[in-house]
Amino acid sequence: MSERTYRVIQWATGVVGRTALRHFIENPVLELVGVYVTNPEKVGRDAGDIAGLPATGVIATNDAENIIGLDADCVLFAPMVTDLDMICRLLRSGKNVISPAGPFVPTDRYRAQFERLEAACRDGGTSYHGCGIHPGFSGDLLPLTLTRLMNRIDRIEITEVIDKLRNPMVYIEVMGFGRDPDELLAKPSRSAEAPHIFAQSMSIVVEGLGKKIERLTTKLEVAGATQDIPYPNGVIRAGTVAGQHYEWTGWVDGAAFMTYHFYWTMGDNIEPKWDNGDSCYRVVITGDPPLELRLMGGTQADGRRPFYGLPWTALLGATAVPAVCDAGPGVITHFELGVVRPLGLVRK
Ligand SMILES: NC(=O)c1ccc[n+]([C@@H]2O[C@H](COP(=O)([O-])OP(=O)(O)OC[C@H]3O[C@@H](n4cnc5c(N)ncnc54)[C@H](OP(=O)(O)O)[C@@H]3O)[C@@H](O)[C@H]2O)c1
Repeated sequence: MSERTYRVIQWATGVVGRTALRHFIENPVLELVGVYVTNPEKVGRDAGDIAGLPATGVIATNDAENIIGLDADCVLFAPMVTDLDMICRLLRSGKNVISPAGPFVPTDRYRAQFERLEAACRDGGTSYHGCGIHPGFSGDLLPLTLTRLMNRIDRIEITEVIDKLRNPMVYIEVMGFGRDPDELLAKPSRSAEAPHIFAQSMSIVVEGLGKKIERLTTKLEVAGATQDIPYPNGVIRAGTVAGQHYEWTGWVDGAAFMTYHFYWTMGDNIEPKWDNGDSCYRVVITGDPPLELRLMGGTQADGRRPFYGLPWTALLGATAVPAVCDAGPGVITHFELGVVRPLGLVRK
């Protein structure tokens, strides 16, 4: 096994970025050399302070040129929205880039973006990998791995279940909770592009099985609050949106083959009352033999199972750093990445 260490930069320190930052500081195989922030209150602070750890001597900067000029092997690029121009600059500056903000897989719709990434990788002798829990794992690598347990596959369904009341998030209003149900159905909170972004994930499974997605169809169902639902930043009023079920289906050989369900709810006082159990990712493969797997956080002392979607997103990127750095130049999907060896995790 290689004894080398990998010099890493954390780009943006939101929820995902802070988890990655903590990992970079604590993992002896990785050496943190830079942190880029936009928030003026974080500029000039030690990375350890931002991550809730002892001082590291690495100071956060909002100067992108300074970051581009650093000698580093890899950048974990986790801003609120992706920035292809900046990713290409980082790649050309000789740094590999791993991005939970996408893009993820070179499907036809995103071909032009990936051509730009490929060109930047060629120029910089670097590689690019889009990562995350979904897109990036639960709806692609995980089910594709599970298909090895099948003799015949009729249908694959991936369900994301998140109770946003038990797993508080800052984007409750942006997500459309508390809106009028008819208004949300007419103008969904998720963009019309979202199914296409997730179809990048679907293509990993479908093409991994030697098939092609012919078309994509979408459905949206909403649940109303049966009573006022207080949450940390406000109240979801009775009768307004307290649950959303997005359903996106990829069709193969004329039949619905792979479906992503997203059940986002604000607690149990909703109608209809979808019975999905604890927050999780559920993979159901219908065929011979039929299969089901649930991915969820471990039980805490209080009996709760937290949903770790954001930390998992960071860690899927952080644990891929050695493999992405060691790979040859170009865009690296799960097909090129193969089985990742996550170094430095077993430690005192
Ligand atoms: N693939 C997946 O499964 C998956 C799952 C979850 C999230 N994600 C993606 O991962 C990224 C990070 O998610 P997150 O939950 O950490 O987000 P977040 O908590 O909202 O943090 C994003 C960070 O981006 C920086 N930022 C704020 N405004 C910005 C702007 N206008 N332009 C550029 N950067 C800005 C800030 O960094 P500073 O505070 O350092 O200034 C902010 O903390 C997002 O792109 C998200 O879509 C992917």
